[in-house]
Amino acid sequence: GDVRLWGGRFAAGPAEALAKLSASVHFDWRLAPYDIAGSRAHARVLHGAGLLTADELTRMHEGLDKLAADVADGSFTGTVADEDVHTALERGLLERVGPDLGGKLRAGRSRNDQIATLFRMYLRDHARIIGGLIAELQDALVGLAEAHPDVAMPGRTHLQHAQPVLFAHHVLAHVQPLARDAERLRQWDERTAVSPYGSGALAGSSLGLDPEAVAADLGFEHGSVANSIDGTASRDFVAEFAFVTAMIGVNLSRVAEEIILWNTKEFSFVTLHDAFSTGSSIMPQKKNPDIAELARGKSGRLIGNLTGLLATLKALPLAYNRDLQEDKEPVFDSCDQLEVLLPAFTGMIATLTVHRERLEELAPAGFSLATDIAEWLVKRGVPFRVAHEVAGACVKECEAHGIELDQLSDEQFAKISPHLTPEVREVLNVPGALAARDGRGGTAPSAVAIQLAEVKSDLAVQ
Ligand code: ARG
Repeated sequence: GDVRLWGGRFAAGPAEALAKLSASVHFDWRLAPYDIAGSRAHARVLHGAGLLTADELTRMHEGLDKLAADVADGSFTGTVADEDVHTALERGLLERVGPDLGGKLRAGRSRNDQIATLFRMYLRDHARIIGGLIAELQDALVGLAEAHPDVAMPGRTHLQHAQPVLFAHHVLAHVQPLARDAERLRQWDERTAVSPYGSGALAGSSLGLDPEAVAADLGFEHGSVANSIDGTASRDFVAEFAFVTAMIGVNLSRVAEEIILWNTKEFSFVTLHDAFSTGSSIMPQKKNPDIAELARGKSGRLIGNLTGLLATLKALPLAYNRDLQEDKEPVFDSCDQLEVLLPAFTGMIATLTVHRERLEELAPAGFSLATDIAEWLVKRGVPFRVAHEVAGACVKECEAHGIELDQLSDEQFAKISPHLTPEVREVLNVPGALAARDGRGGTAPSAVAIQLAEVKSDLAVQ
């Protein structure tokens, strides 16, 4: 028979070209387990409304269980002749329970409320998977910070030497955005825990079904949608998910870019483990940071998925429009990309070798302690305006003689300003500069230790 769910009023079958255009089964097949879960819940409310007998419900569930098993082991799959996952699974059900019983399941539901529900279920599961992978990356970064509690490095702004910072402080600065991303996923999940099932095509159902029961059955903690038109037409949950995944990509790309720089001969801050770097087919000496580069590249792709989706949604009239079929591939792709990228990225971080001597050698370079001179003067009552000027003069003097700040003689200091007594040298060293910044969030080892403890306890409760 005709597998289409809508053939009744048509004299002719679909043109080949239309069928090709319309088909989504090649990408929405991954929703099959969710579709079957939806069908099980729907059968229960049909029974509740008196539209299936107890015996029919039992046989329906047996048929759906068999279908689920056949889907799981690959013995039943959607084909190009099935327009979409819903059509394919209806065909599968009819084959298993016969057309008389199987044909009853479609009452009171539409592919519009089905797809809106299944898509939420799928993304909620993957939000959890991605959240778990982010936690593993956070763990690896925390491990990197913990393994180097006392290493100083040059902190940069504008990519120029700015002030020395603790290496662990810098690494934790990459953990914080990931923690917010994980929180975004959890908050998104809260908002998405509402089921559109029962919205029908757009207007709800006349059959006395119980959308709240379906919602509870399918694990939607916050019940069913308040508005069936919104339930079938809105995709802001998809756009928000795409944003969060794009943000994760962007945050990874910022770590990645630093790894790429740090791994160069010029920086020589880190070495990547052989297992997490690649070679060149022509240059035998090469060891490339491909994972970091792919992270940088894939972040662009994740942004593209978000912007493409927003463009699809823009100005769409209510309620369901077929344009919405374009909503799935971008975010499926975002899930797929992050789910292969994150484990590789975590492995790269977890196996990184840090070159402590190189970091510490460069920590005070580039006159990065000039601010310490200025702040030392401020503590002695010199207005910051003047102190800044004086410290700048010290840098100028050093540049003229090709020396570092701590190499200025007592005479040179005194000549620049009478305030610059030899005691200024006490702050012209990296450990002193770090230790002095001991306010909350600062780079002092004591402050970073507090931050590390907070990050770890947040990670432990997630
Ligand atoms: N494949 C469709 C989608 O992904 C399912 C809903 C189809 N609804 C319809 N009325 N054609 O959006």
